[in-house]
Amino acid sequence: MSSQPARFKAAGPLRGRIRVPGDKSISHRSLMLSALAIGESRIEGLLEGEDVLATAAAMRAMGATIERDADGVWHVSGVGVGGLLQPGNALDMGNSGTSTRLLMGLVASHAITATFVGDASLSKRPMGRVIEPLSRMGATFSASPGGRLPLMVHGLCPAVPIEYRLPVASAQVKSAVLLAGLNAPGITRVIEPIATRDHSERMLRGFGAELTVEEVDGARLISIRGEAELRPQQIIVPGDPSSAAFPIVAALLVPGSDVVVENVGLNPTRAGIYEVLRAMGADLTYENERTVGGEPVADIRARHSTLTGIEVPPDIAPSMIDEFPILFVAAALAEGRTVTRGLEELRVKESDRLALMARGLARLGVEVQETEDGLVIEGRGGAPFSTNGGTTIAAELDHRIAMSFAIAGLVSSAPVEIDDMSPVATSFPTFMPLMHSLGADA
Ligand code: S3P
Repeated sequence: MSSQPARFKAAGPLRGRIRVPGDKSISHRSLMLSALAIGESRIEGLLEGEDVLATAAAMRAMGATIERDADGVWHVSGVGVGGLLQPGNALDMGNSGTSTRLLMGLVASHAITATFVGDASLSKRPMGRVIEPLSRMGATFSASPGGRLPLMVHGLCPAVPIEYRLPVASAQVKSAVLLAGLNAPGITRVIEPIATRDHSERMLRGFGAELTVEEVDGARLISIRGEAELRPQQIIVPGDPSSAAFPIVAALLVPGSDVVVENVGLNPTRAGIYEVLRAMGADLTYENERTVGGEPVADIRARHSTLTGIEVPPDIAPSMIDEFPILFVAAALAEGRTVTRGLEELRVKESDRLALMARGLARLGVEVQETEDGLVIEGRGGAPFSTNGGTTIAAELDHRIAMSFAIAGLVSSAPVEIDDMSPVATSFPTFMPLMHSLGADA
C-alpha cells in the first residue's frame, strides 16, 4: 500500500460534536463470538477498520457467514462452538495483534490447522505469550524464530482445560485462553493478578457461556465451562474510548477549544486516560451517562485546559495501555514534570512506543528522558512545540504514533509531517475527516 503523508499545523480553536467509530476490542469479540453462536447475531456500530475486517475475513474463512447490510448493520451466522472449519489459506492478520492472539486461542481447541501471517509490525511482535498456555492445552505450534509470525497452529480437540496465571497483564492472553477454554471439556481458569479490560468476560456471559469471576487474594479468578452453547445476540458497540482520546486531548491542548465526543465507552477497565487527564487539571465532563449494550457510555465534553504534570500510578496502566502515546503529548505541554513507570509492555505494541515517543517528542523540542519502563517528561507549560521550521515523524506502521504526533502538530510553532497516516485505518478510519470537521488544519 502506498504511504499517505500528511502535515498538521496550528489552527484556531477546535469546536463541534463528533462520534468516533466503534470500540475495537468489542468489535473483534462481537464477530468472534457471533461466529461461534448457532443462529444469526446482529451487530450495530461495528468498527469498520482494517484490524476488525481482518477478524471478519478470518471468521469467514473458518465457516461463518458475515454480511454488512445497507444500513451498516452486520449480520453473522455462526457455526457453533466446536464447528470452526479448516481455513483454505493462510489467515492474514494485517497489523492486528488482537485478531492474531484471540484467534490463535479459538483455533487451539478445534481440530483444525491454521497459518497466521501479518505485516512487518505484527511479524515482530511476541506470540510466545499465547503459545505457552495454548501448548499446555494441547495445541502445537510451528512459529518463526522468537515465537513470531508467520506461524502455524495445530489445534487439539478435545483440548485440555487448564488453570493459568497470567505472567503479563494482557487482555489478549487472558482472552486467548478463555476462548480456547470455550471448546475444552470442563473448566478452564485464568488468574489475573492485575485486572485488564474485561470485554471478553462480559460478552462471553452475554452469549450464554457459564463464566464466573471471583476475587482470590487480590487477583481475579475467571472460570469458564467449556463445550458451551452460545446463543446469538443483538450487539450495540459503543464508541472507542481509545480513539476518542485523540480529539479530546486535541481540544484540551488547542486554546479556545470546546469539543463533545458522543457515545464513548467508559468501561472502568478502559477509562484510565480520562482519570489521569482530570488529575492533571483537564476540564472534562461526562454528559448523558447511560448503559449501551451492557457497557457504560457517556458524551465527553473537553474544553481547553491548563494541565499540570503528575506521577502516573503504574497500577492504572492496564486501563489506559493504548493511551500513553497521546498522554505523553498532553504531558509535554503541561506545567511541570510527568513521570510514568511500569510501561514495559509499550515496547511490544505495534511499535516500541516508548522509544518512538521519546525520539519524536525530543524533535519537537521537549526535554524527555526514556527509562526502561517509562518516560519522564518536562512539560513546556503551554508553550507550543518548537521544531525548527518543521519536522517529519516516521509512524513505523503504528496508528497511535501517527495520531499522537498529528495532534502535536496542531499545537506546534511549525508544521509536523507524519510520513504515513495509512496505519490509522486499522483503528480509526474517520480520524482525518473528523479532525477536519472540528477545525484542524491538515
Ligand atoms: C487488547 C488488549 C491490549 C491492547 C490492544 C487491545 C484487546 O493488548 O493494547 O490494543 O482487545 O484485548 P494486551 O493484551 O497485549 O495488553
